[in-house]
Amino acid sequence: DIVQIDIREPQENIEVSANLYGQFIEYLDNSITGGIFDENSPLSDADGFRKDVLIKMEDLKTPVLRYPGGTVTKTYHWEDGIGPRSERPARRNLIWGGVEDNHFGTDEYIKYCRLIGAEPSIVVNMGTGTAEEAANWVEYCNGTGNTYYANLRRQNGSEEPYNVKLWSLGNEEAAWEDAGRLSNPEKYAEEAWYFAKMMKLTDPSIKLFSVADPFKKEWNDVVLGSLAPIADYISVHWYVGTVEGKPLSIYSQIASFDTTLTELSSYLSQYPEKVENFSKWYRFPSRQDAIKISVDEWGIWESTGGGKYNLDCRYTWRHALATASFLNVFHRQAGSVTMANWAQSVNVLGAILASDKGSIEQTVYYPLMYFRQYLGNSLMSVETSGMPVIEGGENLQALDISSTYNDKTNEVSVFVVNRSDKKVSANMNIEGVKASNAKLVQITSVNEDAKNVIGQESVVAVTEENVSLRKGIKIEPLSINIIVFKK
Ligand code: AHR
Repeated sequence: DIVQIDIREPQENIEVSANLYGQFIEYLDNSITGGIFDENSPLSDADGFRKDVLIKMEDLKTPVLRYPGGTVTKTYHWEDGIGPRSERPARRNLIWGGVEDNHFGTDEYIKYCRLIGAEPSIVVNMGTGTAEEAANWVEYCNGTGNTYYANLRRQNGSEEPYNVKLWSLGNEEAAWEDAGRLSNPEKYAEEAWYFAKMMKLTDPSIKLFSVADPFKKEWNDVVLGSLAPIADYISVHWYVGTVEGKPLSIYSQIASFDTTLTELSSYLSQYPEKVENFSKWYRFPSRQDAIKISVDEWGIWESTGGGKYNLDCRYTWRHALATASFLNVFHRQAGSVTMANWAQSVNVLGAILASDKGSIEQTVYYPLMYFRQYLGNSLMSVETSGMPVIEGGENLQALDISSTYNDKTNEVSVFVVNRSDKKVSANMNIEGVKASNAKLVQITSVNEDAKNVIGQESVVAVTEENVSLRKGIKIEPLSINIIVFKK
C-alpha cells in the first residue's frame, strides 16, 4: 500500500507566523529560578542565567517568550522585581507554593529575551493588581519621556525603552478555581476594558490579548461584545494528556483541538476585520487587523507527571510525536492562529530539564527545534489518499502532515509524523514544482516509551540524507520527518 501525498499551491495565500513557536516561563517551582536562572550555580553567567540552558533556549529560535505566568500573574506585582536585587522583597508564592525572591524581574526578563532573540510578551495582574499598576508597567517598559517610571528604568540600567508590544489582559480569568475574581464575563469585560484603556493611553501602539474560553460561548460573546474594538488576539490554552490505558487518546485530543480552533476561527469571522468609526473620545486607535487566536499555553500535562501538580513531566517519544502533530495543527490553522507558546520552557512541563548538575533536551524538544528550523512563511495545501489507519486508534490516520513554503529560500518543507509502528511508503506529487531531489531530515527514537535522562546519552536520533522524490519515500515507524526541496 502506497500513500499518495499531493502538495499544492493554495488558492489563497495564508501567512504562517514564526510566532507559532513561542515559549512560556512562569514563577512556578523551578521554571525560572532553578531553570533558566540560578545565581548560585557554577553553570550560570554573571547575570545568573544558566549558560547550558541558554544555549538550548537559543537553539529553539523562540520568536516570543511569554512571562510571568500563568496563574501566578493573579498575585504578581512587577515592582517587587526591579531595583537592586538585595533590596527586592521576597514573597510567598500563594498560587504554587514556595517563596519568590524576585531576583529575576522585568529587567532580567527583557535581557533574557534579547539574549535568545525573542520578543517579550507580558501578562498583567488582573487578580490583585490595578489598572494603574498595569499602565505603570507599560510606562516602565516603553516610556520615552522624563517620567517617574521611564526614569526608574533608566536608573535600573536601561536608557533605551524596552518597546514591549504584546500585553495580555489577565490569564485564564474564566476559570473560577484559582485566585481569580473575574470569572463572571460581565465583570471581566468591564475590568479588562478599564485596564486596556489605561494601558493604551500609556502606549497606544501596544497589542492586547483578551481571555477567551473555547467552551463558553457566552463568555466569548460578552467579552468580545465589549473588547472587540481593541483586542488584537484572543487567548486560548490547551493541554493534552493520556487517558489511562489508552495511549492513542493523546492524538484524539489534539484532533479535537484542531476542530475547536476551526470553530473558534469561524466564530471570530463575525467580528469586523478592522474597526472603523471608533469613538473620537478615546485617545488611542482601534484594532486595524482581524482578531487572531493566540494559543498562549499549549503542551502535554500527564496526570502521572509527578510533583504536587503533576508538572514534573518526563516526556516519552510518543509525547514527541504528539508535539509534532500539535505543531502540524498550528501550521494548518495559521490563517487564524498566529501565536502559540509551548508551556513551559524549563522543568515545569519543560521541553528542557535542568538540575544542578546539567541540563538535557526532553524528547519533545526535538520537533519544537527542527520544525521551527524548517518552517516557511506561507502555507501549502496537502491532500492524501490511500492513508492507513492505526489499529485501535478510532480512525486515527498513520501520517499527520502539513507543509509550508519559504519565499526567502524558495524551499518547500513537508512535515510528516508517522504515529503508527509500521513503515509507510509514500509517493509525493508536487504540483507546479520541478524538484525531484529533496533533503530528508528524520527524527526517531528507540521505542515509544523512551525518555531522555540527565547524565545519559540521548534516546533521540536525527539523520539527514538526500533522497529522490521520484522513487517515492519510506517513512519509518514512529518517526518525525521533514522533507525539504527547492520549488
Ligand atoms: O502552565 C501551568 C499553568 O497552566 C499556568 O499557570 C496556567 O495558566 C495553566 O492552567
